Amino acid sequence: MASSWIHTLASSLLLTMMIIRTAIAKEDFKLRPFEIDLSDRVPRMIRQIQESHLPQTPVYTDTGTSAGITLSDLKSFKQQWLTSFDWDQEQISLNKFSHFTAEIEGLTVHFIHEKSGAADAIPLLLIHGWPGSFLEFIPLVDDLTKTAMTKSGKRVSFDVIVPSLPGFAFSSSPPIDWTIQDTTRVFNTLMTHVLAYEEYATFGTDWGSGVAYSLYDQWNTTVRAAHLDFLPFYPLSSAELAAENITLTGLEEFEEDVTITWSNEGTGYFSEQTTKPNTIGLALYDSPIGQLAWIGEKFMNWSDPDAGHAPSVLTRNEILRSVSLYYLTESFASSVVIYAQNPNGFSTVYSKALNDAPLLFSAFKYNPGFWPPALVAQVGNLVYYKNHGFGGHFPGLDNPPALLGDLREIGSYWEASK
Ligand SMILES: *[C@@H]1O[C@H](CO)[C@@H](O)[C@H](O)[C@H]1NC(C)=O
Ligand SMILES: *[C@@H]1O[C@H](CO)[C@@H](O)[C@H](O)[C@H]1NC(C)=O
Ligand SMILES: *[C@@H]1O[C@H](CO)[C@@H](O)[C@H](O)[C@H]1NC(C)=O
Repeated sequence: MASSWIHTLASSLLLTMMIIRTAIAKEDFKLRPFEIDLSDRVPRMIRQIQESHLPQTPVYTDTGTSAGITLSDLKSFKQQWLTSFDWDQEQISLNKFSHFTAEIEGLTVHFIHEKSGAADAIPLLLIHGWPGSFLEFIPLVDDLTKTAMTKSGKRVSFDVIVPSLPGFAFSSSPPIDWTIQDTTRVFNTLMTHVLAYEEYATFGTDWGSGVAYSLYDQWNTTVRAAHLDFLPFYPLSSAELAAENITLTGLEEFEEDVTITWSNEGTGYFSEQTTKPNTIGLALYDSPIGQLAWIGEKFMNWSDPDAGHAPSVLTRNEILRSVSLYYLTESFASSVVIYAQNPNGFSTVYSKALNDAPLLFSAFKYNPGFWPPALVAQVGNLVYYKNHGFGGHFPGLDNPPALLGDLREIGSYWEASK
């Protein structure tokens, strides 16, 4: 009797201690609901846009988009910003999602967390890049939480987590020596400790593909599926592809050309942000029109020429929303530093991740980075590769139904990974 009484007391004490410890552990991360409220910064932004002065006519004869953003595009964006763009409305629609912040390793990490409600939902971490933001995934979040069928007839739904990279939007700026590897560790802590998921899947684009790939490579017991549309490995030239005996289809040839054009004529921003991030960061820090030219050009150049028309939702309003987010959160200068912090973010040597979990890949026609299936298979356990003839570098905006369909295919492979 006595021993069973002591046993009961001991186990209830243990339980109490465990509850307290869990509470403390949660408290350590200061997990809090978060609401976007940038309205008091909007009047100044509008004033600056109004007062900005652009030349009447092109400084040189109009050279088209190959010389960067055109004066006529910039003028029409400016007009739209002043006449029909409404940050307060955007903010109301964005606040319909459940936002949170948590403190991890001294950083404030902002993220959206929407749950499916299904017991077998797959936790899915969606990671953006530059000049993207959590906004890239907004068109997908609700649909991903709903139960759907994979092509192989399996039920699938997701708990969706969309963080802001350190230094972007509402996530605080990291220390100067911060790298993709550090972000990888922090995001894994977010998933496994703050949100207590034992296993999860991740999708990454642009710099986010570097984070997603590192998560896949380094946390092989918890990251049980990865999906990418970009790789942290330099694409190969046509000659290098030929040397690997890789032959291309017509669509692939086109995508290879887009990549080569980027490499030859489109890397000015890349050099600047890698070598002199403070110059461009401070030059545009307080200039909405300047940020629009620098960022808007990339949105337009890296997406489908038909962007803004179905299935694309990458409208000019969406570009203005993204630029406004950078400007209003004062995060342009800290966002560009990611290039300087990761000079070796793209490797020239292909290596296979230490993970037997499924790897999925989606290619999009105008994405300025192309990797044929044979190359993607060199870096992981490639089980699914789909090439889309519409879309570009921001598929969550540029071709959301295609990315949604591909992400759902994670469900076809998820159980096999257990
Ligand atoms: C994108 O930039 C490249 C390189 O300068 C240029 O050749 C191409 O015409 C541009 N495309 C668009 C759609 O702006
Ligand atoms: C490409 O094919 C040639 C001829 O069949 C062969 O000699 C060479 O080893 C192949 N290269 C690779 C990288 O597989
Ligand atoms: C996970 O990585 C370790 C090395 O860190 C490796 O020994 C192990 O085989 C990997 N497991 C899987 C399932 O790939």
